Amino acid sequence: MAGGFSVPDGGKEYPGKMTLFVFLACLVASSGGLIFGYDIGISGGVTSMDPFLLKFFPDVYHEEKLQKSTSQYCKFNSQLLTTFTSSLYLAALVASFFASTVTRLLGRKPSMFCGGLVFLAGSVINGAAKDVAMLIIGRIFLGIGIGFASQSVPLYLSEMAPARLRGMLNIGFQQMITVGILIANIINYGTAKIEGGWGWRVSLGLGAVPAIIMTAGSLLLPDTPNSLIERGHTDEAKSMLCRIRGTEDVQAEFVDLVAASEASKAVKHPWSTLRQRSYRPQLVMSLLIPAFQQLTGINVINFYAPVLFKTIGFGSEASLMSAVIIGFFKVASCLISIFVVDKLGRRPLLIEGGLQMIFFQVVVGILIGIKFGSDGVGTISKPYAIGVVSCICFFVSAFDWSWGPLGWLVPSEIYPLEVRSAGQSITVSVNMLFTFIVAQTFLPMLCHFKFGLFFFFAACETIMTVYVTLFLPETKNIPIEEMDRIWKKHWYWSRFVTDVPGGDHEMTKPKSSV
Ligand code: BGC
Repeated sequence: MAGGFSVPDGGKEYPGKMTLFVFLACLVASSGGLIFGYDIGISGGVTSMDPFLLKFFPDVYHEEKLQKSTSQYCKFNSQLLTTFTSSLYLAALVASFFASTVTRLLGRKPSMFCGGLVFLAGSVINGAAKDVAMLIIGRIFLGIGIGFASQSVPLYLSEMAPARLRGMLNIGFQQMITVGILIANIINYGTAKIEGGWGWRVSLGLGAVPAIIMTAGSLLLPDTPNSLIERGHTDEAKSMLCRIRGTEDVQAEFVDLVAASEASKAVKHPWSTLRQRSYRPQLVMSLLIPAFQQLTGINVINFYAPVLFKTIGFGSEASLMSAVIIGFFKVASCLISIFVVDKLGRRPLLIEGGLQMIFFQVVVGILIGIKFGSDGVGTISKPYAIGVVSCICFFVSAFDWSWGPLGWLVPSEIYPLEVRSAGQSITVSVNMLFTFIVAQTFLPMLCHFKFGLFFFFAACETIMTVYVTLFLPETKNIPIEEMDRIWKKHWYWSRFVTDVPGGDHEMTKPKSSV
């Protein structure tokens, strides 16, 4: 690929190209997304399998089978079932804070290694589960694994990538999430057919495979130059930079990385540093972007698509099949994002994706409302069901080329090195917290708000689309250690990030001139 590249707005040029080495390293690191996606797809599928429900959640099973006449909206409403799904996200939330320290002090690779190993243990416990307690303990292990992976992988990818291709490489994480979901949905479709009712064990136990890929992969990965410098291996960092950029001409970028690292060392307490006024834009973004990402309601579809389809009258097999179709849409849409994100930029994708999600969310709400009204009783014809699934596919596509990948990309690229790892923990924990809240409240909310729930998510999508339009500056093509200037030029954020000498910002800002 092409050599040097220029940065818009009078920024700096760093020579470099996309090397095979970087590509392979990013491919291996992205496998961290596989464990995340695999779990999302698997847990959604097994909770709609009768033998699984009968063994662990018999009340839900009987409610579903025996009381056909009650409201469709409420038949899966079980606190235990939602706890099964959402316990993982609480564990991930807590784990991400420990992962931040490991990532900062030991590097990105050990974090990925720990994540893979703990996820492996969780898969084994879940595959062998004898009771709900064992299931939930297994899910806590899976959650810890996911917390470590989401902390380290997006950072790793953003640091390895040349600025010009950072979007593309970083989205590898989301791409692997979608691949994981698709594979899991296909596996569920197959294991649900296993005679004897133990197919769910295969689904849960096979989580060991992506975990082994990630654990073994992390041993083979090179460290990022940023992390090497941060841990005092300066010479090694320089040769690594030459290697990943495919040129000896890396002095300019290297000087910036070292400066960023010096500024970083001056910061003894990244958490309190983050609260300084000059980091306000980044802090606000890492709180709001992941929260908004979850308030799209995407995980309602990811976790509960088969349950949702059963709710509106699909048979078990048709429900799992629909989940597979949705999985294909997710993979394809994310692939589109990979190819356009560095050309079109982050803002246009987020805004278009937001508008498309609002539209299809409203249509789904209307379609379900027309058929089931507010008493939740009704049946739907096949063409009508196809209409609902199609709208869900368009909704999911919009998410997977916009808020899905960019919900991870944007927060991972806006922080200066000294607070990057701490900032990423905030992103992960807010994401997990909101995933937990949505997973925990969806089934009861569906039971109470009925089809209105879809309008609630559409309202959230409206707010976030307006927010991005007004407050998110474009980050495409800006070198990661130069990100400062986007805030200085922004109509609103410039009041927080200034060049005033002696301001708290100046104390920690890397001297990025060469
Ligand atoms: C989100 C997850 C979601 C996944 C797949 C990720 O970006 O953070 O919550 O399940 O995409 O849609």
